[in-house]
Amino acid sequence: MFKFNFSSSDNQDKTEDTIDDTNHKTCPPEADGKEIEISNIYHQNIQQYRDNCSPTTVVRNFHLVDVKHVEELITSESNGEFQSLKAAFQMNSDIIKGIYEGGMKIWECTLDLLDYFEKNSVQFDGLNVLDLGCGSGLLGMYALSKGALSVHFQDYNAEVLSLCTIPNVIFNNPDLKNRAKFFAGDWGPLLHKLDKYDIILTSETIYNPENYGKLIRIFEETLKKSGLIYVAAKHFYFGVGGNLYEFEKLIRQNERWTSSICFCSSEGVKREILKISQSAT
Ligand SMILES: C[S@@+](CC[C@H](N)C(=O)[O-])C[C@H]1O[C@@H](n2cnc3c(N)ncnc32)[C@H](O)[C@@H]1O
Repeated sequence: MFKFNFSSSDNQDKTEDTIDDTNHKTCPPEADGKEIEISNIYHQNIQQYRDNCSPTTVVRNFHLVDVKHVEELITSESNGEFQSLKAAFQMNSDIIKGIYEGGMKIWECTLDLLDYFEKNSVQFDGLNVLDLGCGSGLLGMYALSKGALSVHFQDYNAEVLSLCTIPNVIFNNPDLKNRAKFFAGDWGPLLHKLDKYDIILTSETIYNPENYGKLIRIFEETLKKSGLIYVAAKHFYFGVGGNLYEFEKLIRQNERWTSSICFCSSEGVKREILKISQSAT
């Protein structure tokens, strides 16, 4: 059942993600890729925004927007905005392929990555980071909190960035300055708008095998020579065909990459973290 649910415990209660695999004809207008500016309401007075807004959900010490409020805002909206999220509500689905790609929910593997970073003291200080398929933005916010020089947040849906990611990032980073940028759109066209990164973080983005080529192209074109990629994913995405084994096989086909599994869940749905770097030449 689709829920705009930011509670990690509720997410873990679910046994299956609900993914609508039908080919829908209408893509959101931003699907060809664009940068979403932090809107004036936030930009002009970040401190005022923080004073007036009281996020109600806390996940791993990050304060997140009240998704119930977002839900109300979307459903009461009658001037034709937020079509992708409205569709997700109506269809009771976590993902509607090509329309809404799941960014409003916090997916389990994001929490795996956060735990892994903490346990292994992964360093972000002074680095340029890409949170690829960011949704709520937790991974990028973690990097910012650990001193990342910049974080670029990317989500398929501009609506997710405007209503969820951007408010979250601002709320948790009062001293944001120019350290964050936000990109909406499909990974294909978006490739040319992205920069070069020391670390690419991506969680629960390999459920659709049709997108593997685009993801790997982004890795190839945007990772700095000494960079690292963390891919957190379920072992299998039942019903849609995505699986980490096939994804890793594609990565290994290119001698340029070295990969290893650095985390494997011990309970529930099997989840792993794949760490990728460039092979020494
Ligand atoms: C299942 S959500 C995971 C969100 C978040 N990383 C998490 O773990 O909570 C998948 C993410 O990948 C993005 N995404 C999926 N397919 C995409 C595509 N073809 N192009 C661009 N972004 C895509 C979605 O917008 C969303 O942010």
